Amino acid sequence: MIEVKHLVKCYGQFTAVDNLSFEIPTGCVFGFVGPNGAGKTTTMRIMAGLLRQTTGEVLYDGKEMTSDRKFLKETVGYMPDFFGVYDNLKVKEYMDFFAGTYYIPVDDRKALIDNLLQLVDLEEKKEAYVDSLSRGMKQRLCLARSLIHDPELLILDEPASGLDPRARVEMKEILKTLGDMGKTILISSHILPELSEMCTQIGIIDKGRMQIQGTVAEIMRQLTKKRVFHVKVLDETDVAAARAREFASVRDVVEGEREIHFAFEGSEEERAAILASMVRAGVPVIDFREQEGNLEEIFMTITGGGQADA
Ligand SMILES: Nc1ncnc2c1ncn2[C@@H]1O[C@H](COP(=O)(O)OP(=O)(O)O)[C@@H](O)[C@H]1O
Ligand SMILES: [Mg+2]
Repeated sequence: MIEVKHLVKCYGQFTAVDNLSFEIPTGCVFGFVGPNGAGKTTTMRIMAGLLRQTTGEVLYDGKEMTSDRKFLKETVGYMPDFFGVYDNLKVKEYMDFFAGTYYIPVDDRKALIDNLLQLVDLEEKKEAYVDSLSRGMKQRLCLARSLIHDPELLILDEPASGLDPRARVEMKEILKTLGDMGKTILISSHILPELSEMCTQIGIIDKGRMQIQGTVAEIMRQLTKKRVFHVKVLDETDVAAARAREFASVRDVVEGEREIHFAFEGSEEERAAILASMVRAGVPVIDFREQEGNLEEIFMTITGGGQADA
């Protein structure tokens, strides 16, 4: 479990991170979302031990660790939001260089590098020069490099930014694999829908402050005051509507063709009771589900539409 507590970072007079708190349970894929300039990179660099906070702490399993460089180097794999220039270096040499910085024995390196390049789908580019790779490939190479010491926590700063749709899908698949491997992952993006599918938790940051956090479903619930439910039936649409109307937590029941929908502000128990009541009345219900909100719309509401470029 990683706990960021009351984190503050000032650059001179400017407060880039303003009393930020959030938790990342072990094994969770946490999506850190916010518009450009929100303070994501600053927070991630502090967590990786690359930047000193002004005040506040980051606890790893209960212990403050931001001043323990050695611990962070071993524990964290950090993928920066930029890719440096590596003239005249082949992919395998690049990986070997980083393996060296982690003191990985020379004899172990080849197998390790082959494995990692396979994971990020670059095994065929081993002999290629880094500068000849496409942006998507460079990003994946950067990810492979951040995995070289098998870190428990991965901090990935906008790994999908600037990629074309196909490269994004490839990156997403790799990240999903890493999540399935049980890594704890903090991943940032300025595009919420990009993260919503692969993250177990999401935190939305704006102007250095956490605006809201939770699972995608929880965030939706907190933001849309009323939830909307759709019920599909084979028949007896009017009975379904009548049953729904009996509940005080149900409003605005609309009858369609073998479908009704209504706004709902009750508990999960009441939700179950509505379905049970319909079924008891003999309504052949074939689907009973909550309408999914539009994440992009929600994100714009929270951040005041402050997205810079996409
Ligand atoms: N070294 C720095 N000196 C001064 N201001 C900075 C510095 N780094 C970042 N900032 C400012 O801090 C804010 C947060 O930046 P950053 O953490 O990079 O946000 P994000 O990654 O969410 O785009 C921005 O307004 C940025 O201009
Ligand atoms: Mg950034």
